[in-house]
Amino acid sequence: MNKTILCFSGSLRKNSYNSEALHIASRRLKEFASVHFVEIDAIELPLLNPSKSYSVEILEKIESLKSLIHNCDGIMFATPEYNGSISGALKNSIDWISYDMKKSQYKKKLIRDKPISIMSVSTGKLCAIGGAFHLQSIMLHMGAFVMPNKCNLYYKDNFNTNQKMQIEDFADKFIQFINIVSISKES
Ligand SMILES: Cc1cc2nc3c(=O)[nH]c(=O)nc-3n(C[C@H](O)[C@H](O)[C@H](O)COP(=O)(O)O)c2cc1C
Repeated sequence: MNKTILCFSGSLRKNSYNSEALHIASRRLKEFASVHFVEIDAIELPLLNPSKSYSVEILEKIESLKSLIHNCDGIMFATPEYNGSISGALKNSIDWISYDMKKSQYKKKLIRDKPISIMSVSTGKLCAIGGAFHLQSIMLHMGAFVMPNKCNLYYKDNFNTNQKMQIEDFADKFIQFINIVSISKES
């Protein structure tokens, strides 16, 4: 087991369905890799303002998040949909990781060539596909390898057996995708 996968939920909500979906997926991912959860709620990032100075504590949090991303072999996102897009909290986190505050420079390279997969869960019957689509656009803009397979789920009461199987199947596909990307990088 020499791979590391980050599970990144775009929801700050306690008992978030997207975070729950990632936990189901992680049980499968752990058979293949070390899994780390990015808890954006716990990080408590302020809104990014390039003209502002931030405390050492905040900058250290950003550096450790960047280092987790730099060292991982893939990122599995699960995003809610807020008004047809991703949550402000997720967008703000992505903006922070793409910005070098010390040099006042925008940099996409942390995500470039990184295998990414995107799940989305919603209480709406369109399964947050708008949020997933916008996250895909952002990741492609940053140069990620976005897995073409989709897992968009409608949450009602609890994930049923069929939905859990869809999530597990998606996790299996992501493991295959990471392997394919790493072989193609070696050749
Ligand atoms: C501000 C806001 C906007 C929302 N907009 C949408 C939307 O556009 N489409 C949708 O399907 N659900 C929308 N929802 C409902 C979310 O799908 C629902 O809150 C879901 O539980 C969020 O995911 P989470 O459980 O991981 O936090 C919205 C929720 C909030 C709080």
